[in-house]
Amino acid sequence: MAKQKQVFFCQECGFESGKWMGQCPGCKAWNTFVEETVVTGVRKRTESAASAPASILRITTDEETRIGTGMKELDRVLGNGIVKGSLILLGGDPGIGKSTILLQVCRNLTEDGHKVLYVSGEESLQQIKMRAERLGTFRQDLYLQCETDLNVVEEAMIKLEPEVAVIDSVQTMMLEEVTSAAGSVSQVREVTNRLMQIAKRKNIAIFLIGHVTKEGTVAGPRTLEHMVDTVLYFEGEKSSQYRILRGVKNRFGATNEIGVFEMQSHGLLEVKNPSQVMLEGRPVDASGSAVVCSMEGTRPLMIEIQALVAQTNFQMPRRTTVGIDFNRVNLLMAVLEKRAGIHLGSCDAYVNLTGGIRLSEPAVDLGIVLALVSSYRNRPIDAHTVSFGEVGLAGEIRGVSMAEQRVKEAAKLGFTTCILPASNAAGITSDNGIRLLGVSNVKEVIDYI
Ligand code: TYD
Ligand code: MG
Repeated sequence: MAKQKQVFFCQECGFESGKWMGQCPGCKAWNTFVEETVVTGVRKRTESAASAPASILRITTDEETRIGTGMKELDRVLGNGIVKGSLILLGGDPGIGKSTILLQVCRNLTEDGHKVLYVSGEESLQQIKMRAERLGTFRQDLYLQCETDLNVVEEAMIKLEPEVAVIDSVQTMMLEEVTSAAGSVSQVREVTNRLMQIAKRKNIAIFLIGHVTKEGTVAGPRTLEHMVDTVLYFEGEKSSQYRILRGVKNRFGATNEIGVFEMQSHGLLEVKNPSQVMLEGRPVDASGSAVVCSMEGTRPLMIEIQALVAQTNFQMPRRTTVGIDFNRVNLLMAVLEKRAGIHLGSCDAYVNLTGGIRLSEPAVDLGIVLALVSSYRNRPIDAHTVSFGEVGLAGEIRGVSMAEQRVKEAAKLGFTTCILPASNAAGITSDNGIRLLGVSNVKEVIDYI
């Protein structure tokens, strides 16, 4: 017998509770519980393939199961193309370019002779066509559908049998059987579940677009990260033209790979050499600017760190960061104070990463230290110097992984000096035409400036 039950869901993280609560015990967000009706007791109609245990040696995999998207940067994040029958979640703030990139992918796929279905619950056919016209000519047939009822979409998919489908967006899709509103946690969960079944049964690769909202008015796709095969996030400041696509989870490839795109008037353009682009327009002979080399997945990336340190006019010195962890900067300032005798306690500090990118690798520590001290002493760092290395609490500089690749990339981009952990410098034997400066504690770094 079908039974209806009233349940409260946190719209932020999907926490389920029998009663309303002010604060979610799961994600600590306030005022996010909404009442939803769930139906229990009915066996869901599933037609999963017979699943008898099979020996691993008998299972064959097809090498050619990946489809190239025609965009190298996207292929890199996906791990060399789209895996057939996989469910890929693309998240990001509204207006960042999710619909645009997937429409471009659809065009590339149809050019290569793949059958593609684009389902939009947000825009009309005319609106999609208008956007498509901005992106360039579509020479091959692309199937478009405006629909919010997932049952109808499922029928279309079964009839059309596309190789790749795009659902724009998961928050607008509804299943009649679920009584709560579109975009609520139970709808989003059920819709994703159903799409997963379709993807696996029909061997269709499905891209799922999801909006992330900080207010939590719409269920964030964070609740379904664990359900899908691959999770990609689009990052970047909307005001800057660069967009970074980051792989957060990938069942078929490495995570933490990034792809860099530039938003132009006719769509997103791949940035083939991000380091060069990010370093463009660097101030010359200005203090407080340091270039750091960070590994994003398998790619070394050169980024400029800017710091501004000035005497404070407040009781409590002000500190702000853009693109790097605030607490990390505070920690490094404390290390400088204690281990190198640089008195930053009465200084305001502002630290920025340029280009709208966010870095979390510890190897950028050394760059932050250099930028801070350079600004404090008002001495510019040589423009052809790059650095990387982790700073420990005792002021020691610790080695990081993949030092050789970083040095190689720096040399390729024309840097002449590289400040790096002494332990890493000892391990690099090849001559890349770049001067290596091994350092083992922050004092040595400061002597350099
Ligand atoms: P869109 O893909 O609609 O964002 P999302 O689907 O993630 O909400 O992107 C919309 C933004 O991109 C909008 O601000 C306009 C801009 N844009 C361009 O700059 N050039 C273009 O060619 C297109 C199609 C959009
Ligand atoms: Mg959109």
